[in-house]
Amino acid sequence: MRQDGFRAEEIDTSRPHPARIYDYLLGGKDNYEVDRHAGDELAVAAPEVRIGVQANRGFLQRAVRYVVGSGVRQILDIGTGLPTSPNVHEIAQEAAPDVRIAYVDNDPIVNTYANALLSRSGATSVVLGDLRDPRAVVDHPEVRKVIDFDEPVALLLVAVLHFLTDAEKPGEVVATLRDALPAGSFLVLSHATGDFADRSDAQAVYKKATASLNLRSRAEVESFFDGFEPVEPGLVQVPFWRPDTEPSPRSGEIGFYGGVARKA
Ligand SMILES: C[S@@+](CC[C@H](N)C(=O)[O-])C[C@H]1O[C@@H](n2cnc3c(N)ncnc32)[C@H](O)[C@@H]1O
Repeated sequence: MRQDGFRAEEIDTSRPHPARIYDYLLGGKDNYEVDRHAGDELAVAAPEVRIGVQANRGFLQRAVRYVVGSGVRQILDIGTGLPTSPNVHEIAQEAAPDVRIAYVDNDPIVNTYANALLSRSGATSVVLGDLRDPRAVVDHPEVRKVIDFDEPVALLLVAVLHFLTDAEKPGEVVATLRDALPAGSFLVLSHATGDFADRSDAQAVYKKATASLNLRSRAEVESFFDGFEPVEPGLVQVPFWRPDTEPSPRSGEIGFYGGVARKA
């Protein structure tokens, strides 16, 4: 047993995990040699990847502040990732202390770390769940403990849908979640794209990982917002979504689209 409560034999260090690669690229410590190797390969295949993941976190922070500022008090964050400062509940509760959050991720490592590190105040749930089974996520008792689906919800699908293949029908997944949300709810979504550079080498890195990287075009990503009304400025590269500082000169290279939309 390690000090952090993990039994070492439960940790799969034979293959890179998306959550741990992302943690490494963000400068975190919750990763293994296999993840660092994949992260370094990614940085060769896509030299902007480190500023890209930082820009994605910046988008997430601005979007959470926006939805909380619009009055939403419940957040369903699917594809949470390993805890990283500031976490979604910290951003949201700084703006409004009464916000409740359900964190859902299909990686047991994320689940364990999140359970250990996140507040157990009753306002936050941490759930091991899979986006590919959206009905099970919505019906999960730990999700229901903090999320009332009769009140507006901010659904966060940030840098996660690109881990679903077309065969896993990401459009139907989002539609199932949308149909569970009442009017006044928001979708906050970001997604990797190859629209700005050929990123097939980056996709090749993920072939060795526990999930594939499925880059999608602007039109494909926009289709995930069907049934929602876009919030200005619509779908843009993440640094350009309501920036609070001047976007860096390299922002145009970043291969993440992001947008926020409201269910009428
Ligand atoms: C790149 S991280 C994004 C973390 C955070 N949302 C952010 O944008 O900063 C992607 C996360 O999605 C999770 N994930 C991948 N496929 C998933 C699935 N089918 N269901 C739930 N979570 C998934 C991974 O385990 C990982 O923690």
